[in-house]
Amino acid sequence: MNADVPLQFGWARAAELGLGFRRITDDDLAFLARVHASSRVDEFAVAPWPEAQKAAFVHVQFNLQHLHFQKQHPDADWLIVMRGGEDIGRLYIVRWPTQHRIIDITLLPEYRGTGTGEALLRDLMDEAAGVGKAVSIHVEKHNPAMRLCRRLGFTVEEDEGLYNLLRWKAPRTTALKLVRSR
Ligand SMILES: CC(C)(COP(=O)(O)OP(=O)(O)OC[C@H]1O[C@@H](n2cnc3c(N)ncnc32)[C@H](O)[C@@H]1OP(=O)(O)O)[C@@H](O)C(=O)NCCC(=O)NCCS
Repeated sequence: MNADVPLQFGWARAAELGLGFRRITDDDLAFLARVHASSRVDEFAVAPWPEAQKAAFVHVQFNLQHLHFQKQHPDADWLIVMRGGEDIGRLYIVRWPTQHRIIDITLLPEYRGTGTGEALLRDLMDEAAGVGKAVSIHVEKHNPAMRLCRRLGFTVEEDEGLYNLLRWKAPRTTALKLVRSR
């Protein structure tokens, strides 16, 4: 993480991949809307609407989601993920007393599938383990991201219909090792 986004623990894997982070500003809204739209493409692929209508709907959805997120989690970190000076996605995290909740992690499609998401999740898991916390995230049941989360050891905490609330917590021995290695 860069100086703008201080963290208690180094995000080693992200650093190794040349990733950087900065806080979102209003100037990023167009980019964030693009990131959001990229995550809704599959959902609307078969909808029998003109493309312009789909785009308008997804934009309204983005605006509502953005306002809802910010209102619900005023203390969250709203981060843009960067690589080589380019904005490649968004990572929204709120650090609660007992868990780190990933509000959203989305990369633009051209940056998916090459290990970036796994690196970010593992870094956050290490950070959480180091302070004895869990990590949680809502994932749609049919989202391919479910495979990644399961591979990393997340399990279903709650079935919420379309979504599962997934949770991971380090075994005590791993957490202790991480604390001692600091
Ligand atoms: C989920 C996401 C952040 C993972 O980052 P990534 O860099 O693509 O992931 P990695 O390359 O480290 O790992 C690959 C895994 O990511 C997941 N993945 C790959 N493409 C994906 C996509 N288009 N949508 C969702 N998950 C995807 C799969 O689980 C994949 O595992 P597999 O190889 O067994 O199929 C990224 O794919 C993405 O932005 N997806 C769309 C948004 C989303 O679904 N976010 C999660 C819910 S908040």
